[in-house]
Amino acid sequence: MTHTAHFRVWRGDADGGGLQDYDVEVNDGEVVLDIIHRLQATQAADLAVRWNCKAGKCGSCSAEVNGRPRLMCMTRMSVFQPEETVTVTPLRAFPVIRDLVTDVSFNYAKARQVPAFVPPKGVAAGEYRMQQVDVERSQEFRKCIECFLCQDTCHVVRDHEENKPAFAGPRFLMRIAELDMHPLDAAADQGLTRAASAQEDHGLGYCNITKCCTEVCPEHIKITDNALIPLKERAVDRKYDPLVWLGNKIRRR
Ligand code: SF4
Ligand code: F3S
Ligand code: FES
Repeated sequence: MTHTAHFRVWRGDADGGGLQDYDVEVNDGEVVLDIIHRLQATQAADLAVRWNCKAGKCGSCSAEVNGRPRLMCMTRMSVFQPEETVTVTPLRAFPVIRDLVTDVSFNYAKARQVPAFVPPKGVAAGEYRMQQVDVERSQEFRKCIECFLCQDTCHVVRDHEENKPAFAGPRFLMRIAELDMHPLDAAADQGLTRAASAQEDHGLGYCNITKCCTEVCPEHIKITDNALIPLKERAVDRKYDPLVWLGNKIRRR
């Protein structure tokens, strides 16, 4: 079955732009990215869009479809009524380069600010031993495809550019949680307490667990429940641990 859908696509660049209307053919089984490609092939050859895998695995085709952050390659046209207008706009939290392509370098800058895994001393690579439960815990977080939909949707930065310097965003707070829960990470030996650093250096306190990040994650990672809330608990436990408090007090003298 084929029908004609009405699309509104944001066209423009850093200097400004607006929504443009297109009527375009849709066939059974197609996804929003197919329609964007058809627009490029038939009506808008210069329409800029970023994509790679068309399989929900590269994280490149992130955009907002009817105002909701989504992967265009994983958004089936069958979820819309045939007469419904489908509006496609670039990710709102990041600066537009052109049309549907945004500059996501904020995320790479935040990634660089998270100190890497610190290997344990005296254990050679290949000799690491971990409980399966610890492996599974971090494997959930490592399903991340870096689509940055969670970064785009979090209200802390979505409408608050001024919060960006202080807030790493859910994807990178999750990375800190993963390292903090890693039984072999020896960052503490180098004086780095990851949970405390998440709070003090990466803006964990800005997160008020609205869970919007979890709702949009295409990998269904339980970002809030399994990473952010435990990280908050670990940061608080440490802060109010009487032994840690005493240690800090003695060290300050
Ligand atoms: Fe995308 Fe989920 Fe990774 Fe966030 S955590 S970047 S939503 S895959
Ligand atoms: Fe933002 Fe997710 Fe926290 S949406 S407020 S990081 S729970
Ligand atoms: Fe790779 Fe959509 S094109 S996730």
